[in-house]
Amino acid sequence: MYRSHNCGELRGVNAGQPVTLAGWVQRIRNFGGMIFIDLRDRYGITQLVFSEEIDPSLASQAEELGREFVVQASGKVAERSNKNKEILTGDIEIIVEKLNVLNKSKTPPFTIEDETDGGEELRMKYRFLDLRRKSPMQNLMLRHQMLQETRRYLTSEQFIEVETPFLIKSTPEGARDFVVPSRMHQGSFYALPQSPQTFKQILMVAGFDRYFQIVKCFRDEDLRADRQPEFTQIDCELSFVTLKDVIDVFSGLSTHLFQQIGGVELDSSRIMTYDDAMRFYGSDKPDLRFEMKFQYLTAQVAGTDFPPFASVVAEGGDVIGFVVKNGAGYSRRQIDQLTDFVRQPHRGMKGLVWIKLETTGEVKSPVGKFFTDDQLKQWMSACGAEKGDLLLIVAGETEKAQHALGGLRLEVAKQEGLSDKRKFVATWITEWPLFEWVEEDQRWYSRHHPFTAPNEEFLHLLETDPGKVKANAYDFVINGVEIGGGSVRIHDRQIQEWVFKTLGLSTEESREKFGFLLSALDYGAPPHGGIAYGFDRWVAMMAGADSIREVIAFPKNNAGRDIMIDAPSPVDFAQLNELGLKLSEEKK
Ligand code: AMO
Repeated sequence: MYRSHNCGELRGVNAGQPVTLAGWVQRIRNFGGMIFIDLRDRYGITQLVFSEEIDPSLASQAEELGREFVVQASGKVAERSNKNKEILTGDIEIIVEKLNVLNKSKTPPFTIEDETDGGEELRMKYRFLDLRRKSPMQNLMLRHQMLQETRRYLTSEQFIEVETPFLIKSTPEGARDFVVPSRMHQGSFYALPQSPQTFKQILMVAGFDRYFQIVKCFRDEDLRADRQPEFTQIDCELSFVTLKDVIDVFSGLSTHLFQQIGGVELDSSRIMTYDDAMRFYGSDKPDLRFEMKFQYLTAQVAGTDFPPFASVVAEGGDVIGFVVKNGAGYSRRQIDQLTDFVRQPHRGMKGLVWIKLETTGEVKSPVGKFFTDDQLKQWMSACGAEKGDLLLIVAGETEKAQHALGGLRLEVAKQEGLSDKRKFVATWITEWPLFEWVEEDQRWYSRHHPFTAPNEEFLHLLETDPGKVKANAYDFVINGVEIGGGSVRIHDRQIQEWVFKTLGLSTEESREKFGFLLSALDYGAPPHGGIAYGFDRWVAMMAGADSIREVIAFPKNNAGRDIMIDAPSPVDFAQLNELGLKLSEEKK
């Protein structure tokens, strides 16, 4: 038996008990004659004490220990004279009688403490050491709890977990596929699934009724803080459901998880249309922890002669603003920075107009000479501004102006400290456009994926005006993060073929790529729909982590590399040969 207890469980009531602990040496403090060692394992830290006076040879053995040595210590639990309130075992210590070094350790390249001195690159290289730290360990425990609760909830709602294959056919869903060469069928490739989308639909055709899977998905796309090339989805599908049914069932899941894991009462029932999200927050995933809702001043400024506004109104654009509460105190420099922000090339605004309603009731604005004070005050009050507030306004082509102001809204929220990580505000975004036109490629793309059902009211426009067709799709957004997304699916072969055609797939191509699905639709496919959550994103949000890397045991870095195992890496020439991927001599 290596241990009688773990390092997190002994308390005052255990005083006098003989125990054996095993763990890692976190810290050694030598007070001339008395040596204190913090022994750590997954469960906590317990203080070991060695006294030269009582047992000089044991004390000198303790002096020889180094950080991260693995030891086994036996002794008696004693109540501490100076208790440590910071840790749960802080009332006791172990007076060691026997010490056994189970393994030595080199000095670790960074400190294994909450506040470590190791940079991310170094920590990832030595991930086995990094994972010993409290915060990654706790994040993974949280992840485990969320996995268990998700399974429990979905099982109680009659969902059954079915595994779908990882070696599938390449059918790009939006990102690039990772492909796997076949040895037995040289020149042919499997692809790793970007999601189990078509398989879960097939399960509905088969009559499974309610499916879920907590599943790895693979996408070869550019990485960001909230994207990994392999990530985990909570993937679900249900039969005989409308959009409202799906939203009801899954509002239940999110409310349950927030309650069970975070002790938070989350309202998951709010629904906002895509058009409103863009119109009032300039984003398809609005952060609703704060207000700063857009106000349209286009009608008010029409007919006035401030050139930037007049030209935008003439061209059919919009003049849009939002109020910054208590922002009248913003300095010139702060406002200049915000102006530079909206002028960045990808935001494309010519400038930022501001109006301050001072606490005295006086208005101040660089456009003061073009308008009367009364006009400016009228705008302020139309926007709901009060004394002491600031109104920020951009003018431009509607979508561009919304986008730029949406970015500015988030920037101001960040500067004002409104992005409180302990506050959670959720919304469903519905009525998405089914397609988007990509000018560069001169073709339509699915906004979600090709299996999303058009809203029935728009079916007649599918062939004539695809841009106007709304989808029966929904995203679930919390604090400005797209946590999940899904849709009601097409279960009618003809509509599915129309959609493929709009996407530029010929009949042969759609049969070649999706023949199995089209065939399944011919054999009694029930109406069905579903959703997939980005599980890593959800855990990261609950953990208050800035990146999903913090809640993944072995993540890839921003360049898509696992630097601990050094992947990706070249493979043997012989291995390539076997796969029929022999490179020419000079490329070798
Ligand atoms: P979608 O592509 O929207 O939908 O993905 C669902 C959710 O997965 C998360 N996500 C990611 N998380 C980490 N890294 C990535 N690279 C990444 N890409 C996506 C997001 C997203 O909301 N089959 C459909 C779902 C459906 O229609 O049922 C799908 O995969 O949180």
